Amino acid sequence: MNNHLLSSNPGPIGVFDSGYGGLTILKHIRTVLPDYDFLYLGDNARTPYGTRSFQVVYEFTLQCVSKLFEMGCHLVVLACNTASAKALRTIQQIDLPRIDSNRRVLGIIRPTVESLGNMTRTRHVGLLATPGTVKSLSYPLEINKLFPDIIVTGEACPIWVPLVENGESGSDGADFFVRRHVENLLAKDPEIDTILLGCTHYPLLLEKISRYVPEHIRIVSQGEYVASSLKDYLERHPEIDSRCTRNSSCRFLTTESVETFLPNASIFMDDGINAESVTL
Ligand code: DGL
Repeated sequence: MNNHLLSSNPGPIGVFDSGYGGLTILKHIRTVLPDYDFLYLGDNARTPYGTRSFQVVYEFTLQCVSKLFEMGCHLVVLACNTASAKALRTIQQIDLPRIDSNRRVLGIIRPTVESLGNMTRTRHVGLLATPGTVKSLSYPLEINKLFPDIIVTGEACPIWVPLVENGESGSDGADFFVRRHVENLLAKDPEIDTILLGCTHYPLLLEKISRYVPEHIRIVSQGEYVASSLKDYLERHPEIDSRCTRNSSCRFLTTESVETFLPNASIFMDDGINAESVTL
């Protein structure tokens, strides 16, 4: 990427996801930061990322972040657990100093993890996520940095994202797969008292997940924690905040065709949206 192409003018906050899932995060972010401008990019043409290798997720994520920088963003949130797990560190440590050391990329694992400390009494936490996120061990590593006493058990749910993406989250068939993974997780560690939904799609399955999780176990969706952490970040970093424009606008970009993106996006957003197709 040629960094001479990057504008120094303030711009919207970029929100990236492999597809639609980041819309569940964006919704919470816009609630706590209603004045800011946002540019959402979904890599719908190449979703899902959850079953792809480290190298591929890193390369795809870097392309999307570079696109958002070119389109004027100074701050990009990776609203995707798989990208946060597999690409964030390398982009922050290797790519940003090369592209523009004044731009920032944030992930969503750390803010989610920070919220956990006071929630679990047994100190046994369950993680439901994509195979990529579970295999990366990012959640246990981040959790244990802050709370070394917490035991984290992961369960990969490879079919949950396709269920949501295909509008099947409310169907009877979805119950079978939701129940299976919840039961697998609780069988691995019966002392779990807190279950983390470590994938942006899973809030759409919350009703079904709650059906199979015993009442004493708390289920944690990450949207509100990510949103309040971003607000806090902007307050603590006025030099970044001043480079974020505020006209309450939100644009949606997809690497797929608009015709494909819009009907499915409505599963994730209550209000109608317009979208534009982009080439990376
Ligand atoms: N958005 C991804 C996440 O939060 C899930 C979708 C995918 O596998 O690409 O992990």
